[in-house]
Amino acid sequence: MLKTNRTSEYPINEIILNRWSPRAMTGELIDDDTLMSFFEAARWAPSSMNNQLVRFVYAKHDTEHFNKFMSVLVEFNQKWCTNAAVLVMIISRKNSYHKNMPQPSHSLEAGACMQNLMLEASSKGYVAHGMTGMDKETALKLLGLTDEWQVDVMIALGVFDKAKSKEMNEEISGRKPLSQLAFEGFIS
Ligand SMILES: Cc1cc2nc3c(=O)[nH]c(=O)nc-3n(C[C@H](O)[C@H](O)[C@H](O)COP(=O)(O)O)c2cc1C
Repeated sequence: MLKTNRTSEYPINEIILNRWSPRAMTGELIDDDTLMSFFEAARWAPSSMNNQLVRFVYAKHDTEHFNKFMSVLVEFNQKWCTNAAVLVMIISRKNSYHKNMPQPSHSLEAGACMQNLMLEASSKGYVAHGMTGMDKETALKLLGLTDEWQVDVMIALGVFDKAKSKEMNEEISGRKPLSQLAFEGFIS
């Protein structure tokens, strides 16, 4: 599991508290079984009517796909993603399957998949860093998809580089106090 010095106001699962988004990666690869276990976690995310509108498209390092995925990221993300083992695009279908009507929760469901994936990766000690700093329209074309689909987020997966993280002065983020986030009945 990735470790942090975070503390929670109330006791919560360590996996949730310690998940964070490093950018320092060694460049080492991730074996297929481990990679598939991340998607396995993602596929168990809930969805409206269990429609399962979300898909995971991945590109391993040193492949043509990887370079294409990199090309749609903004420059800042391209720089630190060079040492990622895998880039994953999470995409969602805009219409439901059961009535083929617009399903407004499709990207919410993609977010649930993203979090499941990141928690699984982080709990196994891997970096999983989500990014929306990308050209989503170009990404959609790159995947050969029509606007029936939406690209929601890209995730960089890799092996954490502790020494490099220190060198880069990576800081582990905190959160607003719970009193500013959770309200009974109304927002004060
Ligand atoms: C939807 C989404 C988009 C993000 N986009 C980027 C991005 O383009 N580049 C980046 O370096 N980090 C990106 N992040 C990472 C956030 O900056 C990070 O999750 C946030 O600062 C909280 O830190 P933590 O994940 O370590 O808890 C994104 C995170 C989310 C959830």
